[in-house]
Amino acid sequence: MKKKTINKNKFIQIFKKAIDIIENINDLEALRVQYLGKKGHIQLEINKLKGISSENRKDFGKLINDIKKYIQKEIKIKKLYLEDLKIQNKIFLEQIDISLPGRREDIGSMHPITQNIYYIESFFYKLGFDIIHGGLEIEDEFHNFEALNIPKYHPARNFQDTFWFDSVRLLRTQTSNMQIHIIKKKKLPIKIIVPGKVYRKDCDQTHSPIFHQIEGLVIDKNINFSHLKWIINHFLNDFFNKNVKIRFRSSYFPFTTLSSEVDIMQNNNSWLEILGCGMVHPNVLERFNIDSNIYSGLAFGIGIERIIMLYYGVQDLRLFLKNDLKFLKQFKRSRYY
Ligand code: DAH
Repeated sequence: MKKKTINKNKFIQIFKKAIDIIENINDLEALRVQYLGKKGHIQLEINKLKGISSENRKDFGKLINDIKKYIQKEIKIKKLYLEDLKIQNKIFLEQIDISLPGRREDIGSMHPITQNIYYIESFFYKLGFDIIHGGLEIEDEFHNFEALNIPKYHPARNFQDTFWFDSVRLLRTQTSNMQIHIIKKKKLPIKIIVPGKVYRKDCDQTHSPIFHQIEGLVIDKNINFSHLKWIINHFLNDFFNKNVKIRFRSSYFPFTTLSSEVDIMQNNNSWLEILGCGMVHPNVLERFNIDSNIYSGLAFGIGIERIIMLYYGVQDLRLFLKNDLKFLKQFKRSRYY
């Protein structure tokens, strides 16, 4: 019988030529199928084994097996090489120029109104005031008006254009509502300030429907108007960082008797009203069983935006509400204590 055999060198030479020019994994896979697949060259050679005499079959089989192993090994090596090449390319393409300046994260900063509230708080904190945060913005008629000596149909209710939810609930028009909550809850003596948001139907260059006030309340024995004057005077000098010219102009608030508004002298020599204050009305105290012959109180309500605008010389209140970072970031105010 004619010896069926395979020219190993030639077979491998052809394979090597084919594998050498392969540049990507897909083509390599195609080559693998071509040689090692079910209908590949190797299998075809294996099929020939059937027609080979038994004395030659062993040698022929070994020969095919050697070739197969060789091809498997070469494909494996080439695969590792191509995979490595792919990673190298990726690294090359994605390489970072470490000499470029980094991109900065734009982190926000505290809103100037908040910064100034903290600044104001620190002043009162040093005077021994408790600072009460939060407060109730959705309020009822009783705390916003009634208990502050502003009964129904009192004309003072009309001055503060109120957002009503229904006939009882409203958005508080003043932080003075907190006077009532605090009188109800706290033991005497009381010495607090409460910053917070208030709401009124008002919107123009100097009015916003939401704005901030700081309410102050002191109730103790022997509290009198000179204490109030001292506090307001020192507070304003501290806030404006200079000796400001102010005047106490007598006024009317239903919840104080001896009521006053405070005006400040502006650069253009005109007066600007910035806060209301007075001695707590006995009706407010007596309603909660505080003996007004023994105890007296002082109270004040400061419009925060007003004094901030004045301090920075900002003309339009709405700028503080627009959240334009370029505008807001100009203001930095803090105090360490
Ligand atoms: N609540 C008043 C307002 O919004 C301001 C005010 C005036 C508060 C006199 C006070 C005060 O505590 O005593 O117009």
